[in-house]
Amino acid sequence: MGVYLYFRVMKVDKRQKREEELFREVSKGKLPEHVAIIMDGNGRWAQKRGLPRLAGHRAGISALKKIITCAQELGIKVITLYAFSTENWKRPKREVEFLMRLPEEYLEKELGFLIENNIVIKTIGDLDEIPGLTQKAIRKAVASTKQNTGMILNFAFNYGGRAEIIGAVKKISREVLEGRLQWDEITEEIFSKHLYTGSIPDPDLLIRPSGELRISNFLLWQLAYTELWFTRVMWPDFNKKYFLKAIKDYQKRERRFGGIL
Ligand code: FPP
Repeated sequence: MGVYLYFRVMKVDKRQKREEELFREVSKGKLPEHVAIIMDGNGRWAQKRGLPRLAGHRAGISALKKIITCAQELGIKVITLYAFSTENWKRPKREVEFLMRLPEEYLEKELGFLIENNIVIKTIGDLDEIPGLTQKAIRKAVASTKQNTGMILNFAFNYGGRAEIIGAVKKISREVLEGRLQWDEITEEIFSKHLYTGSIPDPDLLIRPSGELRISNFLLWQLAYTELWFTRVMWPDFNKKYFLKAIKDYQKRERRFGGIL
């Protein structure tokens, strides 16, 4: 037991040192302003350990907390997290119910921390279609952090990129029909303002764990010039080290936005 504890302490110590080193190596002058994350791999993480998929989602919350703290320490302005997609309704009823309860459970425990840390909670997606209690918990969190001025924590809940684009097209069409907007006044900027993300800048960096190399209907318009970063690590195992590695890699990229340098 003594030997086991010794090696465990040594391992934690080594991990902390590596994290501190990575933290120092990240250039604070070239940070991504907005990082979007597809929190994928919870189910596989759990199944690999002989656990129910739901245990994976719960473990995903621990990873989420680590990343919020690290992003705040770095001074990142916006984090957008894909928590439930418009396609996730196709999952077994029990899993959907569990995923719907997670925001409530998470916010009940963490809202105090988020308020104290000056975090602003926002959401993108269609909240009207989710259970009343989940809506209530999310709307309460949004209202009670509205006055904060720090990092924006943006949850994509019942969100789909295509649905968002159709929604924007409908809003713009109505404005044109009602004479509040001329058709030739429609620009990329105007279009962006009609998306859920409205005034939030487009993501600079997208992180997707779990080894899948796709976008999965996430922020389709907004990701046009976003730098993509993938890892095989499953979301519940994602931690400060991987987050800092992603930021360091991002800082080495040359962003040209279609031009030349
Ligand atoms: C995808 O993994 C993950 C989800 C659909 C849910 C993500 C939610 C959390 C991490 C909880 C945090 C949410 C809130 C609102 C606090 P998957 O189940 O598709 O994994 P798999 O691809 O391995 O099956």
